[in-house]
Amino acid sequence: MKIGKNAITVLERRYLIKDENGEVVETVDELFDRVAGAIAGADSLYNTDADRQALAEEFRELMTSLEFLPNSPTLMNAGRPLGQLSACFVLPVEDSMEAIFEAIKQAALIHKSGGGTGFSFSRLRASGSTVKTTGGVASGPVSFMRVFNMATEAVKQGGTRRGANMGILRVDHPDILAFIDCKKNNADITNFNISVGITEEFMEAAIAGRDYALYDPRTRQEVGRLNAKEVFDRIVDGAWRNGEPGIIFLDRLNRDNVVPGQGQIESTNPCGEQPLLPYESCNLGSINLVTVLRRMDDGSFVIDYDKLGRIVKLAVHFLDNVIDVNKYPLEIIDKTTKATRKIGLGVMGWADMLLRMGIPYNSEAAVELAGRVMGFITETGRQESRELARARGSFPLFAESIYADGEPLRNATVTTIAPTGTLSILAGCSSGVEPVFAFAYIRNVMDGTEMIEVNPVLKEVLTERGLYSDELMKKVIEAGSLQHIDEIPDDIKRVFVCSHDISPLYHVKMQAAFQQHTDNAVSKTVNFTHDATREDVAEVYLQAYRLGCKGVTIYRDGSRDSQVLNIGHVK
Ligand code: CDP
Repeated sequence: MKIGKNAITVLERRYLIKDENGEVVETVDELFDRVAGAIAGADSLYNTDADRQALAEEFRELMTSLEFLPNSPTLMNAGRPLGQLSACFVLPVEDSMEAIFEAIKQAALIHKSGGGTGFSFSRLRASGSTVKTTGGVASGPVSFMRVFNMATEAVKQGGTRRGANMGILRVDHPDILAFIDCKKNNADITNFNISVGITEEFMEAAIAGRDYALYDPRTRQEVGRLNAKEVFDRIVDGAWRNGEPGIIFLDRLNRDNVVPGQGQIESTNPCGEQPLLPYESCNLGSINLVTVLRRMDDGSFVIDYDKLGRIVKLAVHFLDNVIDVNKYPLEIIDKTTKATRKIGLGVMGWADMLLRMGIPYNSEAAVELAGRVMGFITETGRQESRELARARGSFPLFAESIYADGEPLRNATVTTIAPTGTLSILAGCSSGVEPVFAFAYIRNVMDGTEMIEVNPVLKEVLTERGLYSDELMKKVIEAGSLQHIDEIPDDIKRVFVCSHDISPLYHVKMQAAFQQHTDNAVSKTVNFTHDATREDVAEVYLQAYRLGCKGVTIYRDGSRDSQVLNIGHVK
């Protein structure tokens, strides 16, 4: 198996089975056998003659070759008593004390199993409005978010991984200004990512400098007006300060709502890539694009679309099986999920693929290739979903879906681009569709020593040209980029661009190119250098809006005390 040292450390810490003394009692091979066997088991629901053994072998090979990996909960829990396999959930929060605390309990159960939850708080009455049964005064969405946050904090210790939440508030909710500012202090509400739910109408009002209306969530009566440009600037200011809030475009999410009759999509999962209806869950999986490159005789790399097509089909089959094998934390989630059978197949290793092909991330060629690759994946994934529908039936709500006039589909959605935070470490490739953050950095190893880590593609290219040395890598670490290092030839500099060498506009263009060919959404952070201005951030929001993105997350370097990735140093 090709799995690397960092991957083994991650697997040992959280994924391999441990006994009651915390000793690991499973090997990496056994993990993949366990997952492959459990997921292949679903085939016997549809075909009594199914050759489960042969399919399990195919699934195992798909994962151990690192061509495809399912999201973390599937790796952790498949074939085990907990059996909860999805990364993403959305829960409704209704406007009553009972419902609010019920949602907190439901979220706790999901977090315990490694899933993440998204909530819209837009239905909660505004702070200051009256509470009928007590005559008291409501405390509003933000104060309840703090309770959700505390519950998450408490569950965190015992669960399989740190619980993550998305909190959404519609821009026309009366508490919107308090919401925009609720994470101004970096130490507040730390278990949430927050996003303002924006409408195209609001964006047009902001561009024109007009007022817009706020509505009482219970009566839908207009209760106030704000200047859209001022609210937009306040969102931008927050994002510029510390990356919060992000924005999501609600009407775009709902334009792609496959079953509008079932209600509105009001939230996404924690990292924003998976819009869901209340009580839906979704399991994700990602293809490692590096593994579909073929080296030609002249040393150049091309994409092997036949191989990619085979991986896509097997991966869709795998993810559809996950829906049946999954043990859902609540009966209603089981029912809602199986009504649409959404899956989210995506990619990782995109930046590494471009490096190998010699295409700069910040070029029109890369943007164009993104569309071609993702278009191929979504189209091929749908073909497989149609084939599964022929054998197993379409998703139960197909007849009322936006696809009802076409050929039956097994899955209401097929593609999603996840961040692949852990999966990309397991696969040893760049994460999701992000550019490489740093080509070389120092890793603090557990025994207190430091190690230089170098991007494998850069190391290979420099070694082939006889240029590689530890000294040179130290210079790269110091500078945070290759761009101003004299010893590195210009042709390498042009291709090996890292996040901060790429203009925010190209970050957005890449996100938009993938979005155009993705059923769900794209997880992407637009990175800014520390000296970026609020106007720069505003410009990116407008670009994302114009280019058809479903949301935007930005991060300005150094704008939080502790950030996950630092140029030069990681823990
Ligand atoms: O790589 P991995 O499968 O571990 O996850 P990811 O692609 O980084 O994140 C995918 C989704 O998993 C996120 O959007 C969340 O819904 C969920 N997640 C979570 O709930 N808690 C975490 N600590 C990380 C991810």
